Amino acid sequence: MNARIDLKNMASGLTDAEMGYRSFQLGSFQLRRDEYFAHIAWTTRDGRPMSHTMDVGDFLRALMRDVAWGFFYGGVNFDHVIGTVNHYKSVDLQAGAFNETMKAAGVDLLENFPVDQIREVFEQMLDDWTNEGFDPFAAPLETGSPYGRKHGNNTAAVTRARELAQRCVGLNGDLALRTDERGAPVNRGFADVEQDEPELHPEPGFENEVHAFNLFAFLSRSQVTWNPSFTSVVKYSYMCPTTEEHILPIMHANDRVEWFFQLSDEIQWDCADKLTGKPLVRVIMKAGDMAAMPAYCRHQGFSPKRSMLLVWENGSPNLVYEIQKGDAPEVPVKF
Ligand code: PHB
Ligand code: FE
Repeated sequence: MNARIDLKNMASGLTDAEMGYRSFQLGSFQLRRDEYFAHIAWTTRDGRPMSHTMDVGDFLRALMRDVAWGFFYGGVNFDHVIGTVNHYKSVDLQAGAFNETMKAAGVDLLENFPVDQIREVFEQMLDDWTNEGFDPFAAPLETGSPYGRKHGNNTAAVTRARELAQRCVGLNGDLALRTDERGAPVNRGFADVEQDEPELHPEPGFENEVHAFNLFAFLSRSQVTWNPSFTSVVKYSYMCPTTEEHILPIMHANDRVEWFFQLSDEIQWDCADKLTGKPLVRVIMKAGDMAAMPAYCRHQGFSPKRSMLLVWENGSPNLVYEIQKGDAPEVPVKF
């Protein structure tokens, strides 16, 4: 067994194994957790032992998104050191590879894995490290503590599947979770959001085909935070509205331009160079504001109260390669 794994934990006097959590290995990376932290250890390119520590709540919130989103578009940075890069058939796990200081010191590492292998390990780690009462998708004020020795699990929350619409929202039989009766109460942050639905006057015979719904009311009932879901898909245009509270658990380094429409309240964004981590800009978005994130940046949002955001993605599978070849731009518009 790895010596690190048997170290006494000074706070509790317990070894990691006695705390009840499994340790994991992915290529040259070792991952373990104790009462407060996730620890990632690796050997640097020049053969030195190196490690990184994250608050385990932050780690699990990031891991939850990476797993649920199938590694998302481009780079998912758990913090300024650890992260993944999606190549769609394979995924990189990296430590320090997008941190200019660590790269210059030669202490970074990036390894590529078949998507099934890294997904399997991440899913097991997420399930094993998530204790009863902690939901990594919930806002911190709406869930229990991630800390302590292993106690129970929350498999239902960490394997919650995206709700698949049977029909367009608003049409008979849509089955969407959007009423009290369907188990989706209005969130405390949206108590003032009106719940009325649009009036519809379809021609006779078209009642089952013409529809409209109140997107604000729909979103006010979202049970999770920082989880863009599709509301409309038109070719590769994905409109992904979401509700946000506290901190986006990842620093997203997209491989394409994406757009943000601030539908309510306020989100503050920190944007940095995606390769080096050097800060670029802070964007303060208030209700009604729109912004585009260029493909060369990484971004992380801070939402002081629950807010509504529409993320607009171009889901074309070719776009990332068109940008790499210079055939598509990294910015939404050139002035
Ligand atoms: C993003 O990375 O752009 C992102 C992710 C999740 C959200 C919002 C934005 O809920
Ligand atoms: Fe993003």
